[in-house]
Amino acid sequence: MQKIIVGNLKMNLLTLAERDRYLESFERELKNLPENKVEIVLCPPAVHLEKFGEKLKTQEVAVGAQNIFWEERGSFTGEISSLMIKNLGCKYVIIGHSERRKYFQETNEIVNAKLKAALQTKLMPIVCVGESQEERIAGDTAKVIISQVNQGLVDIPISKIAEVIFAYEPVWAIGSGVIPTEDDILEVKITIKKILVEKYGSSAAEKVRIIYGGSVNSKTVAQVCLAPQMDGVLVGRESLIPSEFLKIVEILNNHIA
Ligand code: PGA
Repeated sequence: MQKIIVGNLKMNLLTLAERDRYLESFERELKNLPENKVEIVLCPPAVHLEKFGEKLKTQEVAVGAQNIFWEERGSFTGEISSLMIKNLGCKYVIIGHSERRKYFQETNEIVNAKLKAALQTKLMPIVCVGESQEERIAGDTAKVIISQVNQGLVDIPISKIAEVIFAYEPVWAIGSGVIPTEDDILEVKITIKKILVEKYGSSAAEKVRIIYGGSVNSKTVAQVCLAPQMDGVLVGRESLIPSEFLKIVEILNNHIA
């Protein structure tokens, strides 16, 4: 399975000038990258999606949104639908990021509704799951992951499951510089795989990519992605520095046969 790296730029790049500088730097650094075998995705704020798509389409970099609303159109002031994102030429969307669960009260039911909307419009959803520090200390990691995955997948048919990507993002590892051990990550990967096998059978489950997110950089990527054989990474802070982001890509490339 092709490895994937997703850059989550979050609520950054505040001016058009800043956006343009970022894109120029990204393109320049990308040219220096030796032969690339990793799928690269950038998820900028919605206001920059069109420009990112325009600039990056020739570079084989896909663009994704950081969120969508579950309805397609209508009187939902301030919201952006999956179809709108798809019509801009985007390929991916991040769903249920822990910051959305925390600050915008996104429940597993909302994640499920958004996941259905994404699949309906043929956007590939990157569904984030992960336990908080308190849940981890209480020994509830597996329990939390199981309910997030199970409830997120309600009524998702086998015909669509290969399009879904799961990102295991322990909340306590996001932006903290603290990372889980290889075994911690492997355990969660197995937990997710087990649910997928039970629900969809092993050959469908095999096609679902499971990636890791939380303090990924060029120094941690070996431990959090290569060692536990994850299918890729979701990168926050380091994606704001193109040279650092592409350093991670280079490391992944070097480990692909
Ligand atoms: P981080 O963020 O890489 O800055 O820890 C990851 C994320 O929030 O997806």
